[in-house]
Amino acid sequence: MEEIIPGSIIVTGASGSMGKAAVEALARKGRSVTMACRNLEKGEAARRDVLAKVPGAAIRLLPLDLGSLRSVRAFAAAVAGSAPSGLLNNAGTMPPRFSLTEDGLEQTVAVNYAGPYLLTRLLLDSFAPSASIVNVVSLTVRYARIDRGLLEKGPEDFHQLRTYATSKLALMLFSIELARRTSLRVNMSDPGIVNSNMIDLGRWFDPLADALFKPLCKRPEQGIAPAISALESPQTMKLFKRDKCLDIPARFLDNPLAGYLWEETARRTGL
Ligand SMILES: NC(=O)c1ccc[n+]([C@@H]2O[C@H](COP(=O)([O-])OP(=O)(O)OC[C@H]3O[C@@H](n4cnc5c(N)ncnc54)[C@H](OP(=O)(O)O)[C@@H]3O)[C@@H](O)[C@H]2O)c1
Repeated sequence: MEEIIPGSIIVTGASGSMGKAAVEALARKGRSVTMACRNLEKGEAARRDVLAKVPGAAIRLLPLDLGSLRSVRAFAAAVAGSAPSGLLNNAGTMPPRFSLTEDGLEQTVAVNYAGPYLLTRLLLDSFAPSASIVNVVSLTVRYARIDRGLLEKGPEDFHQLRTYATSKLALMLFSIELARRTSLRVNMSDPGIVNSNMIDLGRWFDPLADALFKPLCKRPEQGIAPAISALESPQTMKLFKRDKCLDIPARFLDNPLAGYLWEETARRTGL
């Protein structure tokens, strides 16, 4: 296990397109970074790439599988005591098929919502007082629906895009509750549509999309830029999108399920 740098910013999914771009952007600003990666080999390759561009950057790599509550707890224990100055909940997934994690949660909801929820709550007492938390959401939230059964969905409820959108809406409601319940800065970022592994839907038309659609998408460093602004902003409970810092629309702020999901997810993740 690598030695943790005190006061670093934790970036989840740091092996991915936007995660790696976030590590590079933060390293260029002289910030120390803890890369939280499911696949350590991929994470190490990403770290090497960043170090080649930003020699001497303070970057550590630790294992984190957000689809495993056990792994989330182990990661939180490893960084507790290092007073992280930030947490960028960037990792995300959009699997084409239904599957359950070892904890019996649907994979998308586990990785995009329940894992980040548990991680963030376990770290609450460890953060530096001025710490900043940024959760990466998606424009799909505006079409999402959520209900009390979020954590108990079966294969009959699964739809790749709808389940993804719901998981991001849950992350959004969590961010709002967290901002209300703590004195930390908690913001969200919406990257737009970014050319990354995530937009491969695993369908027959992917090669067509690669040729026609991907060239029109943002580059990872453009997609993650609002999250970097959010990490550094004195604001809280805002949505960072393109170069804007926006108020959260009332329909999200007033969602009556936010408090229920806060309690129910605590119960389901064993808090
Ligand atoms: N691309 C877009 O258009 C878009 C739009 C809106 C929002 N977003 C959000 O932006 C964030 C970054 O996505 P991206 O576009 O950069 O996609 P990406 O390249 O696929 O990166 C996703 C990252 O999440 C990690 N991850 C997946 N499952 C994990 C798990 N169980 N535990 C820990 N890490 C896990 C991946 O790890 P591995 O390297 O091990 O696979 C990878 O590092 C996601 O939250 C995504 O939902 C993306």
